[in-house]
Amino acid sequence: MPASPSPSPSRLRALRRPLFLLLLHLVAGYFTASASAAGELRQVVESGADDGPFFEPFNVTYDHRAVRIGGQRRMLVSAGVHYPRATPDMWPSIIAKCKEGGADVIETYIFWNGHEPAKGQYYFEERFDLVRFVKLVAAEGLFLFLRIGPYACAEWNFGGFPVWLRDIPGIEFRTDNEPYKAEMQTFVTKIVDMMKDEKLYSWQGGPIILQQV
Ligand SMILES: *[C@@H]1O[C@H](CO)[C@@H](O)[C@H](O)[C@H]1NC(C)=O
Repeated sequence: MPASPSPSPSRLRALRRPLFLLLLHLVAGYFTASASAAGELRQVVESGADDGPFFEPFNVTYDHRAVRIGGQRRMLVSAGVHYPRATPDMWPSIIAKCKEGGADVIETYIFWNGHEPAKGQYYFEERFDLVRFVKLVAAEGLFLFLRIGPYACAEWNFGGFPVWLRDIPGIEFRTDNEPYKAEMQTFVTKIVDMMKDEKLYSWQGGPIILQQV
């Protein structure tokens, strides 16, 4: 069939919603950006300290309009830094550049296949030293948005799924499937416990303000 010369009315209607949302996003950004200067980061350590606590413990909530950090509405500018895509030596300068560029938050996925290359065998060294990365973010006075996945939509092999996951009997990815959910729960729990043990959540004086599964 020949392509139609102009978009049909239904296609135009379909476009309207994303355009409206984009506009809303920009307008909201404009109004909230001015408020962000008021919200101080609650840093309690001199920069250079690398083992925490990094902040006075604070809670994160939200209302109909905004995320609230320690009770204050905040406009948060977030920069994506995928830790295994650089070496640990490079992390401090990358994080510092994000801060210079105006970021309040570093967001990163967690890459399951890097952390559990064989079932039950975990790896958290070198480029996969997640705890070190999170502490460097905190030492720079920035917040962290932990995107645990377990699926990583980030041009990463197999969406971050370890290849062994494919061989679990009866598994179906990214859906309401018991074998999948069981493996996912094991990994997500592992990461959350690790962050908790290292006191990296905001209520523990750490930088993690948001977490996405
Ligand atoms: C955070 O919330 C918990 C649970 O409501 C509360 O016990 C704690 O005191 C709060 N912490 C701060 C710093 O407000």
